[in-house]
Amino acid sequence: MNIELFLGRFHPLIVHLPIGFLLFAAVLEGLSRFYKDKFKNLDQAISIALLLGGLAAIGSAIIGYLLAGGGGYDEQTLFWHKWLGISLAVLSLLAWAIKSELIKFHRVSPAAIIVFLLILVSVTGHLGGNLTHGSDYLLVYAPDPVKKLFGKETVEKAALPSTPDSLLVFQHLIKPTLELKCYACHNETKAKGGLVLTNQDDILKGGENGEVVLASHATESPLFQRVTLPQSSQKFMPPKGAGLNYSELKVVEWWINSGASFDKKLSEYDELPEGLTALLMRDYHLDTSPRPIYDLLSAPKLSEANIQDIANAGFNIKTLANNHPLYDVSSSQNGVDAGAINSLLEAKEQITWLNLSNKGVTDEMMQTIGQLPNLTRLMLPNNPISDDGLSYIKELPHLQILNLYGTSITDESLKVIGEMPTLKHVYLWQTKVTNDGLEALAKNRPDLKVQLGADSE
Ligand code: HEC
Repeated sequence: MNIELFLGRFHPLIVHLPIGFLLFAAVLEGLSRFYKDKFKNLDQAISIALLLGGLAAIGSAIIGYLLAGGGGYDEQTLFWHKWLGISLAVLSLLAWAIKSELIKFHRVSPAAIIVFLLILVSVTGHLGGNLTHGSDYLLVYAPDPVKKLFGKETVEKAALPSTPDSLLVFQHLIKPTLELKCYACHNETKAKGGLVLTNQDDILKGGENGEVVLASHATESPLFQRVTLPQSSQKFMPPKGAGLNYSELKVVEWWINSGASFDKKLSEYDELPEGLTALLMRDYHLDTSPRPIYDLLSAPKLSEANIQDIANAGFNIKTLANNHPLYDVSSSQNGVDAGAINSLLEAKEQITWLNLSNKGVTDEMMQTIGQLPNLTRLMLPNNPISDDGLSYIKELPHLQILNLYGTSITDESLKVIGEMPTLKHVYLWQTKVTNDGLEALAKNRPDLKVQLGADSE
């Protein structure tokens, strides 16, 4: 067991004792000075408070010394904190001795010493706070004018782009973390362990023990090892202040494992590991889930007149979302005829979902449907459609979901389907396709989901 460190950790608690006693001495001194009539006999109390304050300061200094032995503190701050703390203890006892007239020292009034003690307490305490929390601690949440007053930078954190396409992984995800949690000790002027983390060259150069980032090997990279050690370890980074949180660790790990690139965009990574997507969403508000394809399509705004025409031809027509340029269309009648289908050409570029389930769609009508280039989902179950009909839609450039359940297509169409590159999902229950045809399709297009059950949606 490490008894020094165990005791040392009580330092931040114990230091409140001298602060309290000395403050109390100052209050009593003030009262006896400014309200002489009311408070006459405080001198004894004041000297007791000074004595206790002095003793408590000595105790704090001793366990503070034990704590400092653990290392990891900014040396300069520690130096001043230590010597100011020791002076504080000495001066308190001196003030006590003068106040209780153990020594006579007429040239300095005890009141002046007490005022000086108060200043010393504040400065020592502030430095102590900086040691444990970092020198920014006090003003991190201060309003900008206050920060400016104290010469603190008020730069805003670089805003993250809202879409992952333009997000630079190092620049936007890794660097801000290093900046917040490592720059204080690893910058050009103060390179602890010989390590500078503020720029690509120095990161790659590493510290006095060599490289800290080994591309593709996070667990062997000292940079990652140091931030994942148990926090009680002497080697844990950062040695003071908050460590990296779970998402920051995950992002750093993934960044190193995927090659530690300094200029790659998020969209240039093949796939994000399990869980990272959710973390990016939660902590960085980045939606990396694949966007529905229709969000990538654009179309001119459809006029009210066109919408009316299509509705009059017997269709339900509605936008995919508020102000979305694309439309979802389905028939509101028992069946469609060529004229009705032709009216769809008024919204040629805007129709992206089309549902004509069981409406008597013929091969000829398929020719018209094949002229709607932004179709992504086409539902045609239970229609008299044959291989001829299917051939008309084989060029649709964005079609992803195609329902042909209950049509008359054969293996001939499976070949066509196999050559529609954007297609992801096809429904083929109760058609004329054979097992051989399906096997060939599966071999040709392993990525394609083929639905052969009654579930047609
Ligand atoms: C309060 C100061 C401080 C902060 C903040 C800090 N470090 Fe350190 N770091 C040190 C000191 C001191 C050393 C040298 C002693 C040692 O190796 O433990 C060091 C050494 C290192 C080393 C080893 C370099 C070598 O070659 O030996 C790595 C890696 C490291 N730090 C990474 C980090 C990372 C990553 C962060 C941010 C998460 C960080 N440090 C934050 C003080 C700090």
